[in-house]
Amino acid sequence: MLQQLIDIVRRAGELICNARDIEKDTHEKTGASDLVTKYDVAVQAFLKKELLALVPEADFLGEEGEHDTLTKPWVFVVDPIDGTTNFVRNMFYSNIAVALVHEGSVEYGVVYNPFTDELFSAKRGGGAYLNGRPIHVSDHDMAHAITMCGSTIYDRSYTDRSFALMRQLYDLGLDFRRFGSAELDVCYVACGRVEVFFECRLNPWDFAAGSLILTEAGGSITRLDGSPIDPCCAGSVWATNGICHEVLSLLH
Ligand code: IPD
Ligand code: CA
Repeated sequence: MLQQLIDIVRRAGELICNARDIEKDTHEKTGASDLVTKYDVAVQAFLKKELLALVPEADFLGEEGEHDTLTKPWVFVVDPIDGTTNFVRNMFYSNIAVALVHEGSVEYGVVYNPFTDELFSAKRGGGAYLNGRPIHVSDHDMAHAITMCGSTIYDRSYTDRSFALMRQLYDLGLDFRRFGSAELDVCYVACGRVEVFFECRLNPWDFAAGSLILTEAGGSITRLDGSPIDPCCAGSVWATNGICHEVLSLLH
């Protein structure tokens, strides 16, 4: 199953790498920071067709267009392009994310940045991989931690909270980054490039696949209140190398 998912996601990556004149085919959804291109729509259509051919008994929850009411035990949670603004601006930090969830538990996760050809993957209980090589979180403590964050741009009611948290983590740690693609950010924690990622609110397709890759790589992921994430529902995300997870109790 994992290899079949990887093959489908890699083929979807070709659609993204062959994109031209992206800005011309871009529209605002809810505002200037919430964009959709014709490639988001085309990649989702491709993934929906291929993934449901592979597991016809699954529901499909994707970012673009109407969502199924989830009634079946198996669900694909899919972002055709996570990091759409980066994609439109040619910043090469975007990914395709596919999670296969069974009764609330992510069983398979694939996150692929086609621009760098970095493919992160995991099967529950089988470890996490980057281009087929095992990955693991770092063992840095908070004093040596780089924090990545998302700014919850689609809902500015979270802005003060986001920046207050970032300021505290900046003071506790080594430095911070904001790259613009939540699934890849979680995978960067998984492979030990950074130690912490948080965002005050994300949709499930922004973290579902990465959540399994991170835990299979030895990391931890919860909501910001410490409760478990739900891979089919929106919520906050606190994703760490495990060592830094307890820092959550110091934040206010
Ligand atoms: C967005 C990216 C971004 C995060 C936003 C997400 P999209 O996803 O992951 O880093 O800050 O909250 O919605 O819209 O580019 O798929
Ligand atoms: Ca998206």
